[in-house]
Amino acid sequence: MSAPREHWGSRLGFIMAAAGSAVGLGNIWKFPYMTGENGGGAFLVIYLGCIVVFGLSLVMAELLVGRTAQRNPVAAFRHVAGSGWPAVGAMGIVTAFVILSFYVVVAGWTIAYMLFTLNGSLANPDATALDAVFTHLVADAWQPIVYAAIFTALTAAVVIGGVGSGIERASKLLMPLLLVILVALVARSVTLPGAEQGLAFFLVPDFSKVTGATFTAAIGQAFFSLSLGMGAMLTYGSYMPRERNLPADALAVVSLDTLIAVMAGVMVLPAMFAAGMTPGEGGAGTTFKVLPAVFDAMPGGTLFGFGFFLLLAVAALTSSVSLLETVVCYFVDEHRVTRTKATVISAIAVFVLSIPAALSSGLLAGMTIFGMTFFGLMDYLSSSIMLPLGGLLTAICVGWVVGPRAIDALTNEGRITASWAPLWLFILRFVAPLGIGWILMQGLIG
Ligand code: PHE
Repeated sequence: MSAPREHWGSRLGFIMAAAGSAVGLGNIWKFPYMTGENGGGAFLVIYLGCIVVFGLSLVMAELLVGRTAQRNPVAAFRHVAGSGWPAVGAMGIVTAFVILSFYVVVAGWTIAYMLFTLNGSLANPDATALDAVFTHLVADAWQPIVYAAIFTALTAAVVIGGVGSGIERASKLLMPLLLVILVALVARSVTLPGAEQGLAFFLVPDFSKVTGATFTAAIGQAFFSLSLGMGAMLTYGSYMPRERNLPADALAVVSLDTLIAVMAGVMVLPAMFAAGMTPGEGGAGTTFKVLPAVFDAMPGGTLFGFGFFLLLAVAALTSSVSLLETVVCYFVDEHRVTRTKATVISAIAVFVLSIPAALSSGLLAGMTIFGMTFFGLMDYLSSSIMLPLGGLLTAICVGWVVGPRAIDALTNEGRITASWAPLWLFILRFVAPLGIGWILMQGLIG
């Protein structure tokens, strides 16, 4: 029917690409401020609970559907579960656009900050001055749009290059580098005067702050961070050769993603307290407003700052590539358009959608829908509704429609020993549908 499906070059290549999708702005931009706004340590505990209970099982389920079908999300659900189910894949394609609309805007901010580290805009490390730099950038009428456009074009360029050559190579080199920079920043942040309070806020849970909204925020963040519930993991799984040890790879990806989120928390929250800010105060600008003061307090700070924003932009790129790849893979497989054409058209759509998101802190700040800006609405729809819903349906699909056969597929027909596999199936059948369903209800009534 078509050429044999392109496969990842090596086991490490797959892990790095999947971790490249998972690790991105979700970990470093979103996780710290979500933790700040949702009560610190208690949020961390619930977040980790969501990762262990739902995240790991669902990463395995999604990779498995992709690997089994060797197809895009829509065709993959049809292949493993029959009619009706392709709708889950189709919802994922829509979700990809919803996420990309604001993702490219935040990624654009990181490009702007690369320049700011060099041109002296961040020279005054005072909290008020740094706040002003951020506000000035996001309220501008054209800068956020231009940077978002540049980032969208970069994403499209990598996707046109194809899976193996572009994504895999970039991820293998840059992920380890990002880890090194994070270690250095964490070390500086926790030793700033006043940092202990921030560390305690992050690590010591105060469960009196927990409400239904905390659960909604935590599960949305877990799904967003793991690239779950919209077919990105499924698509990457479809490029996976069948003989791999899928559970081991899934565990590696989930661990790496969680490690980097926790490191980002330890990097940002103590620095926030050291700067005299309160944890709920920074909003979506938190990471950008807080870290320049940390760079300033380091020897070679300019270099660290530049390196950090560069690597953050690259981490964002390996994530946005997986979002766009999911869409492109669908159009190429199902509608027989060329990869280049599918990518260019999708990227133009992303750019158009990103304009209202880019202006959400400026010209369009007053235009709200359900009390949210366009940016806020896209963020809310994707993280709090679409991703958990996609995950819930994937759990039901693999748990009930594929059923016990899924265990055979997961363990390569028994060649991998996995005594925990029945527990995995139990989670997909009962725990995930009920747990995620309950949290989704909380979000909708609360
Ligand atoms: N996981 C990515 C991040 O944390 C975002 C993402 C979400 C990517 C969904 C793909 C799919 O930045």
